[in-house]
Order: sequence, then structure tokens, then C-alpha cells
Amino acid sequence: MPPEWVRKGQGARAGPGYAHAVIVECRQVSKRFADRLAVRELDLEVPAGLCFGLLGPNGAGKTTTLKMIYGVSRPSSGSVRVFGLDVARSPREVRARLGVTLQENAHIEVLSSIENLRVFGRYHRLSEVEIESRSQELLDFLELRSHADLPVRALSGGFQRRLAIALSLMNRPELLILDEPTTGLDPAVRLSLWERLRELRARGSTILLTTHYMDEAERLCDRLAILAEGRVVAEGAPKDLIREVVASEALELELPEEREASLLSDLHAVRRVRAGRRLMLYSEDAAALLATLRERGGGFDPHSVVVRPADLEDVFLKLTGTKLEGGA
Ligand SMILES: Nc1ncnc2c1ncn2[C@@H]1O[C@H](COP(=O)(O)OP(=O)(O)OP(=O)(O)O)[C@@H](O)[C@H]1O
Ligand SMILES: [Mg+2]
Repeated sequence: MPPEWVRKGQGARAGPGYAHAVIVECRQVSKRFADRLAVRELDLEVPAGLCFGLLGPNGAGKTTTLKMIYGVSRPSSGSVRVFGLDVARSPREVRARLGVTLQENAHIEVLSSIENLRVFGRYHRLSEVEIESRSQELLDFLELRSHADLPVRALSGGFQRRLAIALSLMNRPELLILDEPTTGLDPAVRLSLWERLRELRARGSTILLTTHYMDEAERLCDRLAILAEGRVVAEGAPKDLIREVVASEALELELPEEREASLLSDLHAVRRVRAGRRLMLYSEDAAALLATLRERGGGFDPHSVVVRPADLEDVFLKLTGTKLEGGA
């Protein structure tokens, strides 16, 4: 059941019980910094009600893209629409309906969590009654209550991150934008934040996040776009991306580079990624591929062999990561 603010309807939503809608639409968006093109003719659609992940190596243009979406940075060309509104023309209307957590935390260090929440509530022009009830609700939702009265500078990184997300939820945003929300958090805090984000999505919020954690992207995101050098190089549901970009299974082995061509001479179609001495080969049946290579006399260290399901890490490496690769 969506929460009250969703049921009142602040815009079109998708997901169970909602009509399809596009919350964020980037059309041919480019961003130039002096002689550097950080984002290049980027097309992106974020459907309502989903958790959408932006992945990409350092410097790929993820943060720059998010900044253009929430209107603090103007595209050099192209258009960005959020909730159907042109961000360049209606930045305030757009910002009032979204929440943002940046790579850097945005709180005031000398104030406590509860005081920070109140400051954000006033910034959003909520009534004092609403500020109080919303702050209490968010202290519970992000499990901050035990530390609510400490100055934020005395909180650990994990608590500061939770507070950052609480602040971005103060105005009950329809769209939540999170730039690396779980970077530097311990595994338990990450898991609990994932739970909170799933809960928000289940209530009908749309989430757009960046992450360098492939497991996070795979488990949390319904859809992903992978950026490299300012362009979208692949987009889709995590499982589809794995199947389309690599294959369902991976065969990892240590094979000297000079042996690769002869051993795999007629296997041009086998997608692969090399990371130093290690070669990852992708197949729908990695065990059968391994049997074929063994029949050919191997040449690889048998102890180095791993057969495993392919994952997003493989997709990421294949699309963005390595100099040497072959296959289709
Ligand atoms: N204000 C700026 N002035 C000049 N160059 C910038 C500015 N902001 C970003 N850039 C450049 O634009 C490119 C993309 O940066 P961006 O911060 O969007 O990358 P990112 O994908 O978020 O990387 P990371 O994973 O490291 O956070 C980089 O080359 C960066 O140096
Ligand atoms: Mg960034």
C-alpha cells in the first residue's frame, strides 16, 4: 500500500497499481568542462517506480549526469525532463519533488541529526508540526534515534550516511537521487540501507542511484545503465545485461597470453576478458567449454580453474575495463 503522500498523487507513477510513466528523461545531453566532454549525447529514461542504477568507472560522468538531472548543473546541449518538466525552465518545481544524497554529505556538522532534519524541513517550507512528525518518522526509519542528539561530527561514517539519506527524504520525494549511497559502509549497514531503499520503492518512490558495488547493483536495481566516457554503453535489467554482454556462465583460468590464440583459435565467438594472467571465458555451458579446452591439451594451470555463474562484474569488465579482449 503506497503511503499517504503517494495516494494523494503528486505525479504519475508506475510499478504495481500505477500507470507507466517516465520520471527522468535525458535527450542527447552533453556536458562540456573546458576542453573535456564529461557527458556525450546521453539518452536515458528512468521509468517510475523502479530502482535505476548508473554504473561506470571513475570519471565516466555519473555524478555530472545526476547534477544535470537535479538541476544544479546545466547541460551544454540537449534536454533533461523530470516529472515531465524541463529542468532548465522549472528547477524549483523539480527540486521540490525530489530528494538528493550527494557523494559528499550535506549536513551541518555542529548540529545534531534531529536539528539537521529540522533545518531541512524549514528549507522545504514544511509546517512546524509536519517537521516534527516527519523528523521522528525518519529517525526511526533510518535507525538514527540512538544517536539523534549527538553533533553530527561525532557520528561514524555509517550514521552520517544514514542521516544524509534521512535528510533527502524530508520532503517525501517522488524521486530519490543517491550518489554512491553505500560507499565506505560496513556490510551490515549496507544491508540495512538496501532494505530501506527497497521499502521506499515498494511504497512507490523512484530511485536513481550510482554505485561501484556490482553486488549492490545486481540485488537492488531493476534496471541499469552502464556509462563509459560519458556515454551509455549498455542498458537493461541486470540479468538481461549479463546474458547479452557476456553469457550465463564464466570459466576462469590462468593461461599465458601467448597460449591464448592457439588454444582458442577456432573459438572466436567465445566472449572473454583478460585481467593479467587470468582469462575469463563466457559461455552458456562453461563446463563443456572447459572439457573442450582440456581435450586440446590445456596449457593452463588446472588448479586455477573456476566455473561460476557470470555476474555484473563480468559485464562491467567486458564493457569498460580491459585492454585485451576478444570474441563477439
Ligand atoms: N566542475 C568540473 N569542472 C571540470 N571538470 C569536471 C567537473 N566536474 C566533473 N568534471 C570532469 O568530468 C568527468 C566526469 O566526472 P564525474 O564526477 O561525473 O564522474 P563519475 O562517473 O561520477 O566518477 P566517480 O565514480 O569517480 O564518482 C571527469 O573527467 C571529471 O574530472
Ligand atoms: Mg561520481
